[in-house]
Amino acid sequence: HARKTIFSGIQPTGVPHLGNYLGALQQWVRLQNEASPDTTLIYSLVDLHAITIRQDPTQLRQWKKESFAMLLAIGLDPKRSIIFHQSDVSAHAELMWILSCGASTGYLGRMTQWKDKTASSSSGSGGNLKLGLFSYPVLQAADVLIHRATHVPVGHDQAQHLEFARQVANGFNETYGGDVLLPPETLISPAKRIMSLAEPKKKMSKSHANLKSRLLLTDSDDAIRGKIKAALTDSDASLSYDPGQRPGVSNLLDILFYSGEMIDFEDQVELAKHLEGHSIKALKEKVALTVINVVAPIRADFDRLLHDEAALEAAAHDGAEKARKSAQVTLESVKKAVGL
Ligand code: ADP
Ligand code: NA
Repeated sequence: HARKTIFSGIQPTGVPHLGNYLGALQQWVRLQNEASPDTTLIYSLVDLHAITIRQDPTQLRQWKKESFAMLLAIGLDPKRSIIFHQSDVSAHAELMWILSCGASTGYLGRMTQWKDKTASSSSGSGGNLKLGLFSYPVLQAADVLIHRATHVPVGHDQAQHLEFARQVANGFNETYGGDVLLPPETLISPAKRIMSLAEPKKKMSKSHANLKSRLLLTDSDDAIRGKIKAALTDSDASLSYDPGQRPGVSNLLDILFYSGEMIDFEDQVELAKHLEGHSIKALKEKVALTVINVVAPIRADFDRLLHDEAALEAAAHDGAEKARKSAQVTLESVKKAVGL
């Protein structure tokens, strides 16, 4: 069978939350643990993406360290998976420049996430929006193409960007001949989006100011109980799964389902039926217990890892070295193809 290379990334823009875990990170670990020995796994903390929005330098450095520790705490093994900070491997940015010379601004302008950001920006027309934010799908394409990734596990929100990466690869190959770049397959996460606890029509995100909107993988048992207790639901006392009409309750059922009940129930509707007769309060208590079971062991490992700075630095250094080697091969053939 053909050799696989799995690549994915997460922005070090805060402590990863339960949405990141259920929607992405959990799958990274599963792919690692189920991979055949000749599969390469590469996971990046995409700090160059993080600065598409202005960051406080001291805060960003801290988040980078914490996010690295978190990737180890969830069960990624640096002996098995290449784990690195994107900015440690300059080939990502170099390839991005070369690819951006062939990327269409029209196509980029039609990306949903860009359109959302232009629509919500105060300047309306997007006059104050930054070039890096506009072109970050090109950097994302470079991230996966530089490592000749065959499979890229992402959440639904990233599917469009991965399609762009495939088109960039095919376009490059058509222009310069041969198969210098490898269009990757997208592995869409089996979990749906986890929503904000405070505003269940918005996704749970690192970037929301309201700290009660997300469950962090570092939260104490009490913090988890408190946030879930305060989660916005509705006035209907019964339990049913209906994300359109009952986003709050349905989000709690999603969290319960993907945090453990997936093994026992076909889907969230079946799970809701099983829980019929429970009050919302009882549901919340059950969700809190289940989430605590997921988070507590991760949090304990994270606390331990974060205090061993020397080990963290050594692991990041080692990951960067391996990632540089992986990237160099592609960068050389791309430069040769272009005439550089
Ligand atoms: P965030 O939006 O919280 O800053 P990132 O952009 O760094 O997260 O995304 C990292 C990964 O986590 C991506 O694969 C993304 O699809 C996934 N992800 C982010 N938020 C959620 C969510 N609320 N539910 C499910 N998956 C999510
Ligand atoms: Na995101």
